Amino acid sequence: MISNSTDNLVVLVTETEFNRAPEVFSSASLRCVSVAGDEAALAREVTKHRARYAIVGSVKYTGAIYDALSHGGVIARFGVGHDGIDKEKATAAGVLCTNTPGVLDQSVAELAILLILAAARRLPSLDAEMRAGAWNLGPSGIELRGKTLAVIGGGRIGQATARIASRGFGMRTIGFRRTQPADALEFDSMATDFASAVGDADFVSLHINAEPANHQFVNRARLSLIPSRAWLINTARGSVIDENALYDVLAERRLAGAALDVFDREPYVPADPSRDLRTLPNVVLAPHVGSHTREANRGMAERALHNIMRARAGDFAGMDLLNPAAVQVWRPSN
Ligand code: 8YV
Repeated sequence: MISNSTDNLVVLVTETEFNRAPEVFSSASLRCVSVAGDEAALAREVTKHRARYAIVGSVKYTGAIYDALSHGGVIARFGVGHDGIDKEKATAAGVLCTNTPGVLDQSVAELAILLILAAARRLPSLDAEMRAGAWNLGPSGIELRGKTLAVIGGGRIGQATARIASRGFGMRTIGFRRTQPADALEFDSMATDFASAVGDADFVSLHINAEPANHQFVNRARLSLIPSRAWLINTARGSVIDENALYDVLAERRLAGAALDVFDREPYVPADPSRDLRTLPNVVLAPHVGSHTREANRGMAERALHNIMRARAGDFAGMDLLNPAAVQVWRPSN
């Protein structure tokens, strides 16, 4: 039995994330305990264990967890996107928040490429038809060589995707950023307006984060700018697309197809029950597995634990801190 004085060294890890890298969490120097990921249950576990540290997935945390961990707690994201964490509330409660940049870029980029290839060669329907007993070649696929990939978002994952597309398949890549970047990025060309970025695209791959300014960034108006021959690929966040508008353009074949790994609500629930993306033949679906590889899972687990250890050491510069202002009100536990 662990006494209360040491129990606050426990790291609570939400179950889904624990199960993605059990070997890392089971052999960590801090005791890691797998707990339910919904906010009420997680907050109860924090109180029960007198825990200061929680490693969490992409679920939205809106209130109870910040009170439970207040003044001395750390919420460490297992992943890079931190739209589920309310940094303002965390900062007000003196809770440090971290994420794990850099360790999942290749995994997510490879999934984006897989989705592009699956679309180009119609893999899901070939597979489904063969399982149903048919032997149909169906319409021909297309080669990626010489095709244009528009990458929306010029961060690390977008650039990794462009690198594979260009060096591996000879695609022409065009990066979209709202403002011209100071440094040269891994694209053949850059655009700061969406219309020119996607105007000649065969594939449009989304790599923007879920900040409020990007909510339903791909709306009806922007969808209408994408050529009807193109496929839309999303491995970023579901909230950056208006899913109802996407359904309409796909159903009316104003867009060739969409390959989606992320959804506005996960597990997927259609925004409008009469516009269920799963019913469309020109949609390829995956349940948010962009970073679900052995390598990225290990990297995210190790980096999240590293961030907690750095916080314990007071080494704020050595961690992936999302809310530096919280340092002023953070009180480390012993
Ligand atoms: C995570 C992700 O693995 O990094 C992100 O933001 O969306 C995923 O790749 C997922 O959030 C689970 O924590």
